Amino acid sequence: MALIELRGITKTYHIGDMSVEVLRGVDLTVESGELLAIMGESGGGKSTLMNIIGFLDSPSGGGYQFEGQDAGHLDDNELAHIRNQKIGFIFQQFNLLPRLNALENVMLPLVYRGVPPRQREKVAKQMLKQVGMADRMAHRPPELSGGQQQRVAIARALSGSPSLILADEPTGALDSKVSQEILDIFLELNRENKITTVMVTHDPKVGKQCRRTVRMADGHLLEV
Ligand SMILES: Nc1ncnc2c1ncn2[C@@H]1O[C@H](COP(=O)(O)OP(=O)(O)OP(=O)(O)O)[C@@H](O)[C@H]1O
Ligand SMILES: [Mg+2]
Repeated sequence: MALIELRGITKTYHIGDMSVEVLRGVDLTVESGELLAIMGESGGGKSTLMNIIGFLDSPSGGGYQFEGQDAGHLDDNELAHIRNQKIGFIFQQFNLLPRLNALENVMLPLVYRGVPPRQREKVAKQMLKQVGMADRMAHRPPELSGGQQQRVAIARALSGSPSLILADEPTGALDSKVSQEILDIFLELNRENKITTVMVTHDPKVGKQCRRTVRMADGHLLEV
C-alpha cells in the first residue's frame, strides 16, 4: 500500500469572477521510505499541491488516499487528526515561535498530543541532538542563525514521529553552504531512519541529490 496516492487532483481558485486552474489533474504515488523532490517554476502550484497532500487545503476534484484511507470520506476532525499525528511540516521561513526556546518549540507538538512532560522533554532533546542542536536548546529563534532555526524546525517536525515530512523550500532562505548542511540532514533521516519526505525545491543541486524528482508543469506532474 502506497503512503500517498493522488489521482486526477485538480485545484481551481476563484477570485471575484476570475478563476485560476492551478492543478489540472495531478497523479502521484509516493511509497513509504521515499525521498521525493518537487521542482517547477514559480506560481506553478507546488505549494498548492503540498497543502493538499498535508490536508491544509482540499482539492477541487480527484482522489486522494493516505495510508490507504480515502481522504474524501474523512470529516474535519479526522483530517485534523491525520494532519497533527501523521505529518510534520517544514517551511522556508522556519515558522518557529519566537518567544519559546528551541527545546520548547520542539516540545510543543507533543503538548498537543498529550505526551507527559518528562517524556516530552526526553524526546525533544533526542531530536535536537539528532539535528546537531544539543548545545543550543535554550536559545530562542532570534538568537539562532537561519540554518540553526531550520534544524530546530526539523526537530519539531520529527518530534511526533510522523509518517510523512512535507518540506516546502526548506533551503530557500539559506545560502548554499548551509543549504547543503540542511539537505544532508534530510538525506540522512531518509537513509538511516526511513523517513518519507516530500520536498519542494527550486535548487537543481538539491533536486539532483534526491532519489526521485518530479516537475510541475501546466498543472501536471511529470517524472524527471
Ligand atoms: N489562496 C489562494 N487564492 C487564490 N489563488 C491562489 C491561492 N494560493 C495560490 N494561488 C495561486 O495559485 C498559483 C500557484 O501558487 P503556488 O503558491 O502553489 O505556486 P508555487 O509553485 O508554490 O510557487 P513558488 O515557487 O513561487 O512558491 C499562483 O498563481 C497563485 O497566485
Ligand atoms: Mg511555493
